[in-house]
Amino acid sequence: SNPNKIAAMKSKKIVIAHRGASGYLPEHTLASKAMAFAMDADYLEQDIVLSKDTVPIVIHDIHLETVTNVKDVYPNRKRADGKYYVIDFTFDELQKLDVYERFNPETNEAVFPERFPLKKSKFKLHSLQDEIEFIQGLNKSTGKNIGIYPEIKEPKFHKNEGLDISKIVLEILSNYGYKTKNDNCILQCFDSDELKWIRFDLKSELFLVQLIEFEDEENKLEEFATYADGIGPWYKQIIKEKDTNGVWQISNLVKNAHKNNLKVHAYTFRADKLDGFTTFNELLQVALFDANIDGVFTDFPDKAVKFINKN
Ligand code: G3P
Ligand code: CA
Repeated sequence: SNPNKIAAMKSKKIVIAHRGASGYLPEHTLASKAMAFAMDADYLEQDIVLSKDTVPIVIHDIHLETVTNVKDVYPNRKRADGKYYVIDFTFDELQKLDVYERFNPETNEAVFPERFPLKKSKFKLHSLQDEIEFIQGLNKSTGKNIGIYPEIKEPKFHKNEGLDISKIVLEILSNYGYKTKNDNCILQCFDSDELKWIRFDLKSELFLVQLIEFEDEENKLEEFATYADGIGPWYKQIIKEKDTNGVWQISNLVKNAHKNNLKVHAYTFRADKLDGFTTFNELLQVALFDANIDGVFTDFPDKAVKFINKN
């Protein structure tokens, strides 16, 4: 009945499982990816960092002590800043670590205390290749066609280590059949120089998403559109404060992005971190239908899939 809503519905809204079903299982474990797959997310996200022997590892941070027992297994392998870098360990060495729910390495307390219990059960790190084979295997055995959504993490850090992370990742993606916009793979990065490098120098034809986090980036949409197909903003760049009537104020970012033919996939939607919203569905309603974003990165893909299917 609401014409805005009908127009907004015309293109399908997508659900990206942020680090897997990370609201329920430790982030980026294959278990969390299997769960998100079964929940019918459209895409499963991979954050990517290189190991010492240049294997792309699926992990969010360039260091290890926030999600693993690296301090116990390799106590002497920290750098001067006290951190244990993925790049300082070979893939075989990384396999010896146990992976846990995210925690604060200073206090040993879980970041999300209501989630999967800390240091319980057995989880391991894995490579991008491992994860692609896992997802492609699940696509085959279920007849689904769920996509991947890799993020190149900190390309300048990798460059300082003498490595072109994007070149390594793109070659692997290509080997597994992810080459063009039609291949169910979206590649994301915060670093605009790197995305230009990927588009113009590495000549990738993949669907590219420019992640953003700052207000001054919101004026660069025309430039983004010269190399990217979408933007990935923090949702608070779109949904601002509540006005005096209790109505959420929406910025022009989505409208302006759409004028530049850019899709908008916003992060990160968490049912256990509502930031002033009464319910998770209210947050999803404002983001997906009032603000008209095209997709959500969420730790709770089941809830977003259910919301979209009923609306
Ligand atoms: O990639 C979208 C969102 O995941 C960006 O934030 O820090 O979770 O990688 P982050
Ligand atoms: Ca990410």
